[in-house]
Amino acid sequence: MASGANGSSGDTVLVTGGLGYIGSHACVALAEAGRRFVIVDNLANSSPRVLDRLQRIVGWRPDFVEADIGDGARMARVLREHRVGAVMHFAGSKAVGESVALPLDYYRNNVAGTLALLEAMRAQAVRRLIFSSSATVYAADNAMPLREDAALGASNPYGRSKLFVEHMLRDLQAAEPEWAIACLRYFNPVGAHPSALIGESPRGIPNNLVPYIAQVAVGRRERLSVFGGDYGTADGTGVRDYVHVLDVAEGHVAALRHLERAPGWVAVNLGTGQGVSVLEILREYERASGIPIPFQVVQRRPGDIAQCWAEVARARDLFAWRARRDLGEMCADSWRWQQANPDGYG
Ligand code: NAD
Ligand code: UD1
Repeated sequence: MASGANGSSGDTVLVTGGLGYIGSHACVALAEAGRRFVIVDNLANSSPRVLDRLQRIVGWRPDFVEADIGDGARMARVLREHRVGAVMHFAGSKAVGESVALPLDYYRNNVAGTLALLEAMRAQAVRRLIFSSSATVYAADNAMPLREDAALGASNPYGRSKLFVEHMLRDLQAAEPEWAIACLRYFNPVGAHPSALIGESPRGIPNNLVPYIAQVAVGRRERLSVFGGDYGTADGTGVRDYVHVLDVAEGHVAALRHLERAPGWVAVNLGTGQGVSVLEILREYERASGIPIPFQVVQRRPGDIAQCWAEVARARDLFAWRARRDLGEMCADSWRWQQANPDGYG
């Protein structure tokens, strides 16, 4: 399979944030679907080693441009020179706590950065976009499962930055109907490519559950703190919809096929439709790794909701997509990645 910009005009996919956790898996899914792509990443939260790893998985070296999405002139050049026809937009900042401390950084990178990208796209007549949104855009008091038409509302600057971008994209598509835009609301992406060559490599202490469990299992951390054992859930711990990152990645290729058929604006959940508690995933991880994971139940984490899982009918109906990998596979792939790369990309 050939890579790069030497194909016919307008069918290369620009993957912003393509060296990051989800973006790198999307690159693999694009390659498997026979799609050309070019990666733009500013390395703010990623390593250039991901390129070597991607090369080993797909068999050729992906095109990569080190650039910031906020640099509109540079983005316009990339779109033009690489004959881009669609953008998968993963680039952004994603740590909730950090967004509370540094809100302007989040609005600049996530909102102003996306705005610069959109202006560059419009200038180059590239009007197909898949945006990394999040289940965090749903208001806290909705009934489960969450349908895409449930009430929206975010409770921190990170979540609001995602919501603002969704609104911005909707307004743009309403004004210029030739745009084709999908906001994909991810639930909790976990796991890694089964090769153990790419995966999640958090800097510092992981905020999210599965990377934390993985580091306990590999001996980097002593025990898991379970944030709250008194929720109104079956075992009292928080419930989430964990979805394999490769399923999420494949959801993007399915969304792209949909956008190629149908302009419009659409928001679609990417989840399994099943809620899993902290203790359930902990037990599954112990099974996958064969290692007992010490834990203690501590106070609830401020801002956490008790439970959250997706209604998945829209993804099935529009994209013919559903998550295929189960919790055992998510834990086994996470563990394989963690063992092979105890310090992530180093
Ligand atoms: P990640 O941090 O691993 O990947 C983001 C990538 O974007 C990184 O490689 C980073 O270097 C790059 N980047 C950041 N700002 C940039 C900029 N201004 N210009 C160019 N590159 C830039 O995060 P991820 O987990 O892969 O998440 C990807 C997207 O999905 C993010 O937008 C995130 O908010 C969203 N999302 C993630 C989750 C999750 O659980 N991981 C859930 C919901 C939504
Ligand atoms: C978090 C973010 C959310 C983001 C999502 C996916 C917060 C408040 N929310 O959500 O905006 O979209 O990640 O990236 O940060 N847990 C523990 N111990 C831990 C870590 C987590 O018990 O050390 C529990 C949590 O209380 C929760 C579950 O595990 O019940 C999942 O937590 P996490 O992985 O952080 O994801 P979310 O809370 O869904």
